Amino acid sequence: MNTPELIITPELFCHGVAVEALGADAFGPGRFTRTAFRLREGVAHENELSFVALRDNQLVGSVRITRILIGERPALVLGPLVVEASCKNEGIGRKLMTVAVEAARSQGHELIILVGDEPYYRPFGFKRVTNGQITLPGPVDPRRFLYCELQEGAIGQFHGPARACR
Ligand SMILES: CC(C)(COP(=O)(O)OP(=O)(O)OC[C@H]1O[C@@H](n2cnc3c(N)ncnc32)[C@H](O)[C@@H]1OP(=O)(O)O)[C@@H](O)C(=O)NCCC(=O)NCCS
Repeated sequence: MNTPELIITPELFCHGVAVEALGADAFGPGRFTRTAFRLREGVAHENELSFVALRDNQLVGSVRITRILIGERPALVLGPLVVEASCKNEGIGRKLMTVAVEAARSQGHELIILVGDEPYYRPFGFKRVTNGQITLPGPVDPRRFLYCELQEGAIGQFHGPARACR
């Protein structure tokens, strides 16, 4: 039997409940205390930069991007990225990441940060933030604090605390 086609499409309001459920399954109640969550708290994700993966009309993956400020300079934070447990290792996360990063690049943004596993995110251009150049509003394992330049040399423009963009 053929696997139904996977569709990557911008997240719509109607996907919100399923996206939240996927995040709850993956991260549990502790997700609300994570440093990355604090950065997004009370701020809506960017509709044009957030995507869902649908298969057979079921939501099987999601990636969200939210605007932030680093110092006084606009930037983006990526997360959460989640794939339904039964659909892992099929390349869905990779497809969501590729589409989201390219959308951010094509819309002229300069920098994305995230907290995550470097080995997973490295192929998309993410590297470790070093020397405390950017700080987060809570504790973070420095090995998991990553950035991706969307314009060459952009990281040089970003210094100071990252905070929610309200
Ligand atoms: C991380 C996650 C989004 C990956 O999605 P996915 O669709 O399964 O990933 P893909 O199919 O695109 O990629 C699979 C590859 O990534 C690797 N991988 C998966 N999670 C990884 C991790 N945390 N660190 C390093 N590599 C990882 C797999 O081993 C696999 O490697 P291979 O291609 O060499 O076999 C998914 O496992 C998930 O939802 N996890 C729970 C939530 C989470 O941890 N989100 C990320 C926050 S940092």
